[in-house]
Amino acid sequence: MVLLVSTASELVDWRATIPGQRIAFVPTMGALHAGHVRLVERAREIADVVVVSIFVNPTQFGEGEDFERYPRTLDNDMKLLGDLADVVYAPNVDDVYPPDAPPLAKTAGPAGIGFEGAARPGHFDGMLTVVNRLFDIVKPDVAVFGQKDAQQVHLVRRLAIERGGPEIDVVRTVREDDGLARSSRNRYLSPEEREAAIAVPDSLRAVSAHIDSGVAAAVRAGRAVLTAEPLARLDYLELVSPADFTPVDDTFHGEATLVVAARFGTTRLLDTETIIVP
Ligand code: PAJ
Repeated sequence: MVLLVSTASELVDWRATIPGQRIAFVPTMGALHAGHVRLVERAREIADVVVVSIFVNPTQFGEGEDFERYPRTLDNDMKLLGDLADVVYAPNVDDVYPPDAPPLAKTAGPAGIGFEGAARPGHFDGMLTVVNRLFDIVKPDVAVFGQKDAQQVHLVRRLAIERGGPEIDVVRTVREDDGLARSSRNRYLSPEEREAAIAVPDSLRAVSAHIDSGVAAAVRAGRAVLTAEPLARLDYLELVSPADFTPVDDTFHGEATLVVAARFGTTRLLDTETIIVP
């Protein structure tokens, strides 16, 4: 049976019943899909007990973004999780951000300014603030994140080093049959946009296919796939260094992170892939 709790103090009580057990934590904003489920399955594999949080964090949404209309589907989320999680922590805003004791605000710094940070100013400060707060509440030994949000992973890894834990475990992107990365936002796409969105994973493949011609040529080939799609508006497609999340050039060799973001109507889709630059 999954235990559904809504306050940090219930989590404290629960933790007292499982002394010495290894806790894995999967933070989410709900509207769960197969990608989230894969993270929870991974959490099961690497720990004794699994905590999933479901919290649409207001501080990581900007003015005019989709905070209000972000899908909230708790009943369905609980069904999808089945017995995979031991505890689901679905707090209200005041439990995470007590008005009388606001949590420490975190800032992402330079690595949070480009890419998603450029499109969504303040997003990563809000994300790090809530993840730091959730780590303090849940006190996990290991936390599981999806590679799909590569810049988030980069920043969370840094946060975990700064805090002295938890371990960060990263899961590969789970995709639809046609290759589109699963996302809670895919449901916003019109049928035409959904069809066009295949250009996102196609652009990753194009970079892979051209990487032997060098970084610049491969990046050009990837961007060309998206600029050729009338319903897509390319935001960025770049190969970045996993060390500091800054773009690499033709002098770079080794493992790089390909990041892409494109808009279809009002919906922004992200994708990422690890690319070996020869
Ligand atoms: P959310 O978008 O709900 O994602 C929760 C976790 O699921 C993240 O680690 C994300 O990378 C992962 N995920 C999403 N789609 C995935 C896919 N197709 N395959 C594999 N993993 C996938 O990311 C957030 O929430 C928030 O920023 C959060 C960390 C919860 C802080 O509020």
